[in-house]
Amino acid sequence: MIKSRIFITTPIYYVNDKPHLGHTFTTLIADVLSRYFRQEKKEVFFLTGTDEHGLKIFQSAKINNKDPKKFCDENSSLFKETWKNLGIEYDKFIRTTDKDHIETVQYVLDILKEKGDLYEKDYKGLYCIDCENFVLEKDLINGLCPFHLKPPINISERNYFFKLEKYFGLVQKEIEKEKLKITPNSALKETKGLLKQKLTDFSVSRIKEKVQWGVELPFDKNQVTYVWVDALINYISAIGFYKNKNNFKKWWEEGYVLHILGKDILKFHAIYWPAMLIALNIKVPNEELIHGFFTVNGLKMSKTLKNTIDPNELVRIYGSEATRYLLLSQFPVSSDGDIKEAQFKEKYNTDLANRLGNLISRVLSLENKAEFKQTKFNSSKIKPNFKKILQETRNNYIHFMEDYKLFEALQEIFKLVDYCNVYISQNKIWELVGKKDKNSKLLLEQHLTDLSITLEEIRNLISPFLPKTSEKLGNLLKTKNPEPLFKRL
Ligand code: ME8
Ligand code: MG
Repeated sequence: MIKSRIFITTPIYYVNDKPHLGHTFTTLIADVLSRYFRQEKKEVFFLTGTDEHGLKIFQSAKINNKDPKKFCDENSSLFKETWKNLGIEYDKFIRTTDKDHIETVQYVLDILKEKGDLYEKDYKGLYCIDCENFVLEKDLINGLCPFHLKPPINISERNYFFKLEKYFGLVQKEIEKEKLKITPNSALKETKGLLKQKLTDFSVSRIKEKVQWGVELPFDKNQVTYVWVDALINYISAIGFYKNKNNFKKWWEEGYVLHILGKDILKFHAIYWPAMLIALNIKVPNEELIHGFFTVNGLKMSKTLKNTIDPNELVRIYGSEATRYLLLSQFPVSSDGDIKEAQFKEKYNTDLANRLGNLISRVLSLENKAEFKQTKFNSSKIKPNFKKILQETRNNYIHFMEDYKLFEALQEIFKLVDYCNVYISQNKIWELVGKKDKNSKLLLEQHLTDLSITLEEIRNLISPFLPKTSEKLGNLLKTKNPEPLFKRL
């Protein structure tokens, strides 16, 4: 495994509706990390996409009076459009209705069947369509799914089951040995809790009479693949597990595989998926980064609960760069947080217009007014106090980024921004402008050297988070043209 080659994925999102802030959060984390790793000269493949089969989507299409494929096409495009609006740059967007993917799912199921890891069994139980998951009576609250506040349906049919119990111990071992690392610790604990419960074999199919919209089982025309099995396989179908073994080897076998997801789908990723991979003789993912939930008034933000915030609306108000910032500066990646849209404006004005925006325009206008207009400052001439804080900031930043602590890394950058703003005020640097004596001129040159080099560093550090701002700032630093990057709202 080459740690300088990273395969980074997001969940593939259901297309029963348009994307909301929750999906945006995950995809943004993946985008920022991809950009950061690339900056660190690593090879990156960033995969995202949409999950398009199953009852939930079939029913949504029906409600909307649309042919399911057409419905998926439209909603899948909305995800692509949203990522574009946010400056998210993935390498591949997979759709589970892609021909390639469907063939891979069938190929995988054939392997599992031949190995004897699938068997037929009569099943009777409850199913939450919105979770696309089998549920137990004991987990319901007043007869309703606790996540979607809807009653589950009764299922009684003969399905194919995957022998999870056979692989359970092996999954446990991989996690213990950190072959599969689960980050953060709270998610690892939750996984260990799930492992203690001893999950049972799970169904990998549904009968066609009940669910038509899915990938037909290659060995039984009367059944379609359970949507979760179909979905998980995207991570290997997208990189050529079926028909492009070289590419698959490059990214999966030799690369560092990093799945990013929300804690709602931990069980599927930390237990079911590794078990399937072990059965297929494929290594388990190297790491899974589990993030917390956005809630709105304490309830999980979800399409089903209709309490979502449209990221495109935020982009219209604040622009794409600020939206990226506002999302990632709400709370640490691993914690839950209540979204307070009302506070976005204040946060925008405080952090972007004032703290960062002011610093940029102050430094640039000082340079503009000063007589020397250097485009490159000699970094060896930086003063020790600045040298020290730059070093500290970079060390902390790298430490946080390597741990996927994006919120904390952003705070480091803004600490440096504040340091410079205070420095300019305390030293009343503007008073030196226009002074003719040699000492004042030298002093001003020193200040501007320190500040410009620091601004250049801020530009580098902020680039994975605010790529366009970083680029614009680069141009401003060259042209010395103080132009506000974030207008006050
Ligand atoms: O579960 N806060 O798709 P999905 C933070 N298709 N993140 C959130 C969120 C919230 N309130 N709501 C959603 C599925 N997310 C399956 C996945 S993968 C092989 C198949 C994010 O549309 C978060 O990443 O329900 C969560 O895990 C994912 O969207 C679920 O998206
Ligand atoms: Mg969901």
